[in-house]
Amino acid sequence: MSTTATRNILVTSALPYANGAIHLGHLLEYIQTDIWVRFQKSRGQQCYYVCADDAHGTAIMLRAEQEGITSEALIERVSNDHQTDFARFGVGFDNYHSTHSTENRHFSEMIYKRLRDKGHIATRDIEQMFDPQKGLFLADRFIKGTCPKCGAEDQYGDNCEKCGATYTPADLVNPVSAISGATPEVRTSTHYFFKLPDFADFLQGWIDDGHVQPQIRNKLMEWFESGFNEWDISRDAPYFGFEIPDAPGKYFYVWLDAPIGYLASFKNLCDREGIDFDSFWDKGSDAEVYHFIGKDIVYFHALFWPAMLHGADLRTPTAVNCHGFLTVDGAKMSKSRGTFIKAATYADYLNPEYLRYYFAAKLTSKVDDLDLNLEDFAARVNSDLVGKVVNIASRCAGFVKKLGSGRLSSHCAEPQMVARFIAAGDDIAEDFEAREFSRAMRKIMELADEANTYIADKEPWALAKQDGRDAEVLDICSVGINLFRQLMVYLAPVVPAMAEEAREFLNVASLDWHTRQSVLTDHSINKFKPLMTRVERDKIDAMIEASKEDLVEEQKLKEVPKGPLVEDPIAEEIDFAAFAKVDLRIARIAKAEYVEGADKLLQLTLDLGGETRNVFSGIRSAYAPEALEGRLTVMVANLAPRKMRFGVSEGMVLASANEEGIYLLSPDTGAEPGQRVT
Ligand code: 2FM
Ligand code: ZN
Repeated sequence: MSTTATRNILVTSALPYANGAIHLGHLLEYIQTDIWVRFQKSRGQQCYYVCADDAHGTAIMLRAEQEGITSEALIERVSNDHQTDFARFGVGFDNYHSTHSTENRHFSEMIYKRLRDKGHIATRDIEQMFDPQKGLFLADRFIKGTCPKCGAEDQYGDNCEKCGATYTPADLVNPVSAISGATPEVRTSTHYFFKLPDFADFLQGWIDDGHVQPQIRNKLMEWFESGFNEWDISRDAPYFGFEIPDAPGKYFYVWLDAPIGYLASFKNLCDREGIDFDSFWDKGSDAEVYHFIGKDIVYFHALFWPAMLHGADLRTPTAVNCHGFLTVDGAKMSKSRGTFIKAATYADYLNPEYLRYYFAAKLTSKVDDLDLNLEDFAARVNSDLVGKVVNIASRCAGFVKKLGSGRLSSHCAEPQMVARFIAAGDDIAEDFEAREFSRAMRKIMELADEANTYIADKEPWALAKQDGRDAEVLDICSVGINLFRQLMVYLAPVVPAMAEEAREFLNVASLDWHTRQSVLTDHSINKFKPLMTRVERDKIDAMIEASKEDLVEEQKLKEVPKGPLVEDPIAEEIDFAAFAKVDLRIARIAKAEYVEGADKLLQLTLDLGGETRNVFSGIRSAYAPEALEGRLTVMVANLAPRKMRFGVSEGMVLASANEEGIYLLSPDTGAEPGQRVT
């Protein structure tokens, strides 16, 4: 056992929002964190892993309203679902709490008051869009309208998906509330700001002090150079969250109390188990605090959060460990391709430990994205876990049972080899500690190869057929079982359920790291049961199909009218007369060209059977101009001309779109340019 003092370690993963299901993208982080935590525990450290649901904010409030339930009922249900998913994947939190908790209210108020009393909070009136029908200030993403730059309709209030322009909602042409469809008004309201610039010097020192990975440090330096703004931490009622102590009708913005949820969850654990909270969070604490997060939320965790803690006289994190995004088969997870896979859907078809191993085999300490290649996934798990590791035990167990009545030899026939496997644990531990899981898995599989080679060379099955060689066979297989035991100690943080079965088979009290030091001799083992079966391709395919069905279910849910919130202003019912007003015509694309300075647009010259129209269309990502020329399509011919930066657009071509592309409508053969579409 290590002679150094036990470390006190608190570890967190990002808090998932309480309005959506856990998917494989989330799991990359929880599995990475859980492996690291299990490793620390195996090494005998005092390590606590806490998490919670991120329960506040407008999105959750609106979702609850849409479902016709209270926000409290929604977050309770989602929390249960989340915890079920985590348990299925072996993610072993010491505590799972909620940001909508008394502890979180306490710490949010405490931190806010400390910051306020030291002058780090400012108030200022700001103008914001307001939905008069819902009585709600609208965040930018809840406002839609026509892009002021390219004229694309149905764009969000902060940027245009068609031309990439960024702007404020006030710049949108014909803005509407995405919630009610009402035309928003500009209203003024007082907001509270956290004065981040007060902490510039502190943060500069903090990020230079090795608390973030080099890639993240570089990103933070870029942000430094462009300067910090004060951070708006308040939202007006109605808002699902905590009211700001001295500001009736003003609520903490969800991102203010979300990281404080780490403290809240830990406090909840401390109160239950008698742990000294302050010894972890007081300034000067020698405990270690690690936050595991995705690269999209670095700003909150590496700037706002340390600044808030420092300003409130609490200790700051030892490190913020950032990971990249998950892709599936080389692309962003896609609902229509069935690669947007929910945790529950995966677990209905495949063993969660396959995924834990696969992630471990690919995870490094860097921020790079990780690809789940489904072919490689099956091949890797089958070859490594089943073909190499389990194979050692299954080849040896039968002989130990038959020749030793389940008892291993009373001496170790290969002490040097076993000693080498034990010694390798120091190196492997360094890799786990440094979050270089991929390197650790490679070393473990090299050892597994050695163990298999040893058994293959000795051919116990051949010896067993010869007279008088039983003791030798038992010796070889006892070595094999000892090597298997070493490997399972190293793999236990990665595949805890398989390790638990291996522990029972090996008949040992624990597979903690230090237990590997003793060699098992004259020791009874239990009956061998297959510890892991092969990944089957048809199960993967079934999971993909089920994920596509998940999408269909979601669409159905969206279609069910549930009161005023789901009234989509765009899909509002119209009568025939209104429809008849739209002049839809067959058009021939006479010419298609790129538009300089607009990376989403094509300029189309449309032939309406004599008359020509100039139309700008956001279809460049899907079509090369030359592929369009001569093609028939459908256009809205009586749309009021729109003046754009590049010229006047005289109509619109019809297309549908999903995550993968844009699909221009075409009439059946025989249609002619200029014909009316009815
Ligand atoms: O990005 C998210 O999913 C947030 N719910 C993460 C919050 S992490 C922490 F700050 F609470
Ligand atoms: Zn635009």
